[in-house]
Amino acid sequence: AYPKFVKVVEVSPRDGLQNEKTWVPTETKINLINKLSDSGLRVVEATSFVSEKAIPQMKDNSEVLAGIIRKEGISYPVLVPNIKGMESALKQNVKEIAVFGAASEAFTQKNIKCSIEESLKRFEDVIAIAKRESIKVRGYVSCVMGCPYEGEIDPRLVNTVAQKLLDMGCYEISLGDTIGIGTPDKTYEMLQAVKIDRSILAAHFHNTYNRAIQNLVIALSEGISIVDSSVAGIGGCPYAKGASGNVPTEDILFLCELLGIEHGVDIPKLIEVGDYISTELKRENLARVKIADLEN
Ligand code: HMG
Ligand code: MG
Repeated sequence: AYPKFVKVVEVSPRDGLQNEKTWVPTETKINLINKLSDSGLRVVEATSFVSEKAIPQMKDNSEVLAGIIRKEGISYPVLVPNIKGMESALKQNVKEIAVFGAASEAFTQKNIKCSIEESLKRFEDVIAIAKRESIKVRGYVSCVMGCPYEGEIDPRLVNTVAQKLLDMGCYEISLGDTIGIGTPDKTYEMLQAVKIDRSILAAHFHNTYNRAIQNLVIALSEGISIVDSSVAGIGGCPYAKGASGNVPTEDILFLCELLGIEHGVDIPKLIEVGDYISTELKRENLARVKIADLEN
């Protein structure tokens, strides 16, 4: 059975923009977040506190957080890889962070320049500070359906990394199909291996091969009720060659409507936000659902 309600975690200001080669003005990032906040979304991942050499597009993280209107009832998590990032995030008074690991040694090395084991040690230090400051921590596991460097990934390793993040104190675990190579069968198989309560698992599926929606139908029918997505399908990870954007939020909401799942988001408003950021980035809006579809 499908869940009654889906919580959408909007990741476009971070995952959607981090790979943009042309500089996106801070004001555009702030506008994007504020517009998303006005559409009924409950979680808007705002930026990341990572090395600016690694991800130049996120170097205005502090200005972005200082510039947005933080609405009551909305969470604005930020990515934090290490203590240094945590210290900068604390100065901006963040209430939620996300640590990001992977079920692939090679991807972990490329992405955050350490082994899986070392990454977990770093997260432990970050989470210790978060606990002291009463900051919520979300945990990502990348490459859950395959790795751009290693190819096939053993779903049992996905479970191991996810379980460790949970034991450390993450309140939610987001399963990332980083390069969008999942299939419905793989999605099912991977979820069978992950022995974690469905209510705290999120599906973070990139849409490289246009299969994210099919895979999400499997995830939803397996009891997952949290979905990460980006308006207009913008984005991609710079350490995942060929990976395109996240599944478009508009299409997730439309899927929810079709399946009779509540989501609490104003779809026409969100479609306008997708048009806004596509125009700003001079990119095609990859969402399939348009205003006209809603009138049929
Ligand atoms: P490193 O080179 O090992 O770090 O990188 P280091 O400690 O040796 O420091 C190197 C330099 O970076 C130093 O500066 C540090 O000060 C600086 P320098 O002395 O050379 O001028 N530095 C920092 N600056 C700002 N904020 C920080 C920070 N830490 C060090 N927090 C590190 C290790 C993790 C820092 C680096 O590799 C990094 O920042 N990686 C981030 C990569 C990233 O953001 N990837 C995209 C997000 S993950 C993703 O998209 C997947 C996801 O969407 C899920 C999915 O789709 O599967 C989440
Ligand atoms: Mg991602």
